[in-house]
Amino acid sequence: MKKLRFAVLASGRGSNLQAILDACKAGTIHGEVVVVLSDHKDAFALERARRANIPAFWVNPADFSDKAQFEEGLLRIIAEFNVDYIILAGFMRIFSPTFIHGAQVPILNIHPSLLPAFAGLHAQRQAVEYGVRYSGCTVHFLDEGVDTGPIIMQAVVPVYQDDTEDSLAERILREEHRIYPKVLQLLAEGRVSCQGRKVIIAGEEERQ
Ligand code: GRF
Repeated sequence: MKKLRFAVLASGRGSNLQAILDACKAGTIHGEVVVVLSDHKDAFALERARRANIPAFWVNPADFSDKAQFEEGLLRIIAEFNVDYIILAGFMRIFSPTFIHGAQVPILNIHPSLLPAFAGLHAQRQAVEYGVRYSGCTVHFLDEGVDTGPIIMQAVVPVYQDDTEDSLAERILREEHRIYPKVLQLLAEGRVSCQGRKVIIAGEEERQ
């Protein structure tokens, strides 16, 4: 089995990155994070990468004349690392179709709601304010829309009456840390394929 190579893009604290790094180290993902990029200089995700001796790049959007140039800047670095997948883990920017096609590898994202509900920013706040009884998180392939790509895996958590945005976010985050590594291992096992917008996970029915 080929060991997968991942580029991880993160804007902030990088707890999903950490869950992925830990799983790679433990061997529960047959793969490795080979480069981490952030659009924020002080993103703790960059620090986590450095601590794990992984090349970490701050790509400053202000250094580029426009979004297209910035995206090209990201892709230029990623191209040096010969990756199989680009993993968005709290990267707070919307990519243009040019980036998605220019990447030449599939891009994954994690979103803190049960898509297609509560796409976009502040998904946990949206869920609390809407009054849903359940929410969760979704790992999906990136397509040209915002949080609209084919869904690979979801996890459900209850929403309690006294939940705040933060308490729900914390409950969801625990599930994020569980399912993102799980999806990456399914990719490493070659079990994930797409039929239109439906994602098929080989062997999944046996686990019901
Ligand atoms: C997560 O809730 C993720 O779903 C969202 O941004 C947050 C990133 O958290 N896209 P972290 O940086 O991985 O801790």
